[in-house]
Amino acid sequence: MAESKNGRHAHIVGWGKYVPSKVLTNADLAQIVDTSDEWIVTRTGIHERRIAGPKDTSASMGLIAAKEALEHAGVRPHEVDLIIVATATPEYAFPATACLIQDALGAVNAGAFDLSAGCTGFMYALAVGAQAIQSGAHKIVLVIGSETLSRIMDWKDRSTCVLFGDGAGAIVLSAGNSSGGILSTICRSDGSGGDLLIVPGGGSRCPTSHQTVDQGLHFIKMNGREVFRFAARVMDKSAREVAARAGIDIGDVQLIIPHQANLRIIRAAARALDLPEERFFINLQYYGNTSSASIPIAICEAVEQGKLNPGDHCILVGFGAGLTWAATLVKWGAPKPLHEMTRFERIYARLLYLGAGIRSRLMRALLRIESALPLPRSSDRNGKRKK
Ligand code: ACO
Repeated sequence: MAESKNGRHAHIVGWGKYVPSKVLTNADLAQIVDTSDEWIVTRTGIHERRIAGPKDTSASMGLIAAKEALEHAGVRPHEVDLIIVATATPEYAFPATACLIQDALGAVNAGAFDLSAGCTGFMYALAVGAQAIQSGAHKIVLVIGSETLSRIMDWKDRSTCVLFGDGAGAIVLSAGNSSGGILSTICRSDGSGGDLLIVPGGGSRCPTSHQTVDQGLHFIKMNGREVFRFAARVMDKSAREVAARAGIDIGDVQLIIPHQANLRIIRAAARALDLPEERFFINLQYYGNTSSASIPIAICEAVEQGKLNPGDHCILVGFGAGLTWAATLVKWGAPKPLHEMTRFERIYARLLYLGAGIRSRLMRALLRIESALPLPRSSDRNGKRKK
């Protein structure tokens, strides 16, 4: 899946992230639930996580990450063909969070949809975006992972509330004829494990009611031990498979960016792959598990820290609710030199976003005016006006 068949390659040419400023440490959590810094660090490796402020939402955080990614890529919003937002915590059931971001960006030529695959969402979205480019259907795809998990966490359940955090990451995929970029991808699922990690309430099976809220069915429920076993089983296998598909020896992969859920899971994968831990990018100590946002945030930080350089082979590997898991092998390195925006271009970009906001308000006002007008009179089958 996702290999180029017609000479069109999908390159990652921009990346951006946003994390809320509020830091919640393990010591803070120990004030809320019966836990300790020692338990959380030894069982998970997490020291702190970011928690969304009152104004942060999946759309607002995804928007900031998207703007940064577009700026890095030197891509204007109207050039984007497709926006995919991977999220388990969308702004609404509908409209899609992707449409809200499309509107705020002023990406007037883009299709937009959300993708739900638990913590694997970003990996699935990346695969879909890469295929959209490789098929020739699209040229520029914006792939975003954004989560406000703190809003669906049971702050009385110590087995889950210590694990998760909020944030967003985005990448820009661009079509290019030069080889490299997304070399191979696998996406897998096993729905028989769906109840191991679930938000049972608020869907069509258990619509929101006083009863579902009283029972806390709108919160994350997880069988941590089973999810742990599943993750340890699939991480190394999918990394090997995606490397084999690309014809790359796993030992020649410079960096593995895994889903940042638990340090013990990452260490188990490193042992199974017979690779040193240093080959894995790890930032879960600062952010906890940010679900769909974890891999794009990690990509940004790996680049910032000089751990991902042009020509490097990098494996991205994720797992999550569904159950789902996926891996991608990327040959890092944009087909063109990174676009450094001039001051003028930055001001211009800000004006574009301002324009997008004004356009959005105008469109809403027009819709309201239109809805106040009488409907055009219907015609009968022969085109004659009904009396
Ligand atoms: N503080 C103190 N004690 C705790 C806490 C806590 N925060 N949480 C659980 N415990 C207790 C349990 O009650 C249990 O006590 P008991 O033995 O008296 O019953 C004990 O610690 C051990 O519990 P386990 O669940 O066996 O602990 P484990 O070593 O498995 O670690 C953990 C739990 C960290 C949740 C681990 O199972 C894990 O990380 N699983 C994977 C979770 C994951 O990655 N989920 C995200 C998937 S991606 C997505 O789509 C969202």
